[in-house]
Amino acid sequence: MAQRIAIVSALHAELAEVLALMPDEHKRRVGGRTFWTGHLHGHDVVLVLSGMGKVAAAATTALLIDRFQAGQVVFTGVAGGLAPGVEVGDVVVGGGFIQHDMDASPMFPRFELPGQGVTRLPADAVLAQVLQEAAEDAVTWLPKLLDATTLATLGLHRPAVHRGLIVSGDRFVSTDAESAALRQAVPEALAVDMESAAVAQVCRDFGVGFGAVRTISDRADNEAHVDFPRFLDQVARHYSARIIRRTLNLL
Ligand code: ADE
Repeated sequence: MAQRIAIVSALHAELAEVLALMPDEHKRRVGGRTFWTGHLHGHDVVLVLSGMGKVAAAATTALLIDRFQAGQVVFTGVAGGLAPGVEVGDVVVGGGFIQHDMDASPMFPRFELPGQGVTRLPADAVLAQVLQEAAEDAVTWLPKLLDATTLATLGLHRPAVHRGLIVSGDRFVSTDAESAALRQAVPEALAVDMESAAVAQVCRDFGVGFGAVRTISDRADNEAHVDFPRFLDQVARHYSARIIRRTLNLL
C-alpha cells in the first residue's frame, strides 16, 4: 500500500489553500492540534498545523507518524534568507538541516545532537528532488499571477530556487548582528526557520522520509519586520498550494 504523506505548515494561511483542495477531509483533534486526513491527487494524506518553534513541530511530527501512520513528511512554510543571493520571494528546498541553537558543549561539539553523533540531518533525496521541480514551476508561475505594482511593492524580481542547508532554532532572526553571527557559525546555511530541523530529527528517529520547502519572506536582518499577513496572502500561500499540488502529482 502507498505510504500516507503528511503535509505540515507552521501557519494557517499556508495550509488553508491546500486544505481547500481536499474533497474528503476528516478532522480529528489530538494534543491540541487538528489533523485532517483525506485524499489529494490520488494520495492518502494527513494535513496539520505544527505551530511555531521546534517543540511544537517535533510533537506534531511524532503524532503524525505514531497516530496517523505518516510514511513521509513534507513541511511547507516561510524562512529568512541567510546566504548572499537568497532573496525575498525565492524558494529554498532543504537538502540538510541543523539546529543552530543546539549547543551541549563542552560535552558535545556545538550543533551536534547529544547522544546521536549527528549534526546535519539529511532530507530524503527523492522528496528533495520532487520539491525542487515543483518549486521551479512555482517561481516561474507566480510573477504571472501578480501585477507589476504588487511585485515591486513586495520587492520581488526574478525569484529563484535554491537547494541546500536550512538551519532552525527557537528564534525569529531579525537583526543584522544575529544573521551575521549565524552566517559565520554555519557558512553553508541558505536559510533560517523555526521548525525544519526539529521535524527532521523526529523523522530520522522513526525512519520516515522528510522534505522541506520554504519561501523566503525576509532576509533575517534589521528589516525582517515584514508584513507577514500580506506576504503570506500575496506570495507564500500561493507557492505552498502550487508546490504541494505539483509535488503530489510527481510522487
Ligand atoms: N521564518 C521566516 N523568517 C524567519 C526568520 N527571520 N527567522 C526565523 N524564522 C523565520
